[in-house]
Amino acid sequence: MKLFAILLTCALACSTSFASAQQKQVVIRFSHVVAPDTPKGKAAERFQQLAEQATQGRVRVRIYPNSQLYRDREELEALQLGAVEMIAPSLSKLRPLGAREFEVFDLPFMFPDKEALHRITNGPIGADMLERLQSRGIIGLAFWDNGFKSFSANRPLRLPSDLHGLRMRIQPSRVLDAEMRALGAQPMALRFGEVYDALAAGVVDGTENPPSNFYTQNMQDVQAHFTVSNHGYLGYAVLVNKKFWEDLPIDIRLALEEAMRSATRYADSISQDENDKALKAIQDSGKTQVYFLTETERKEWRKALTTVSANMQDHIGAQLISNIQNAINAP
Ligand code: LMR
Repeated sequence: MKLFAILLTCALACSTSFASAQQKQVVIRFSHVVAPDTPKGKAAERFQQLAEQATQGRVRVRIYPNSQLYRDREELEALQLGAVEMIAPSLSKLRPLGAREFEVFDLPFMFPDKEALHRITNGPIGADMLERLQSRGIIGLAFWDNGFKSFSANRPLRLPSDLHGLRMRIQPSRVLDAEMRALGAQPMALRFGEVYDALAAGVVDGTENPPSNFYTQNMQDVQAHFTVSNHGYLGYAVLVNKKFWEDLPIDIRLALEEAMRSATRYADSISQDENDKALKAIQDSGKTQVYFLTETERKEWRKALTTVSANMQDHIGAQLISNIQNAINAP
């Protein structure tokens, strides 16, 4: 009788603690480095809203924008250590994970438009790239668009030779380093949160980014010229800590996956408009002169950058580059 009572108490205690473990609120700390009113910032907020709604508050998403919590490289380390659960670094910043194949997205003039790009990010090649992150303790949930990059500096940039001798801020990518060197510029890898001050202090003379990142960091205050060159792509991989993700109760994980699919469609649907609006705001600021390359000028930039792709074959993987080119050119 006594034994029965003990067993019963035990069973009750176990089921209560199991239920409370099931009910325990899950907190997702989502760290990123850009402003809230950018494509990434808005998509993060959309994910937050959808995730909290779908799980009826069992999940809380706390967003830390503008490098508030961690900066570029640190956020990758924080994710691996479990100090944050979710990040969305640009694809140019994944090399510390040993994932240099993502630098394929940095190759100049690789993707003629978003349609071509989505053939990769929404297709089997993109899925395979994300899948390989698992061996680093990370799950890649999605690709999010920002947009195509333009060059800026304190002098007009119409032809590649205009970049000669300029110190240009880049993200930490070998491909971007090679791009700037091919143009005769001196590349300097700086964290995103340091770019405004470095431009203001003249530590660097120019940079490259889509208009949304440029405008929301007030770079129009410190850069007199912005050339719409659309010479390369900037996008993100949304990453979560693998152990955290796999330990989630299955119903929660499925709800979060659905919220992420929705947030991804949203990110990709607003990115062009966000960049168009930012470009107009840069023009309207009257502080930065915006220049659109003519077709002839664009050809010159393309020509000046052709060596980059050839020289980066070994670094990125010739097979991957060729698979991507085939997928883009497929009917
Ligand atoms: C940059 O460092 O220029 C970008 O990666 C920032 C971002 O996350 O869009």
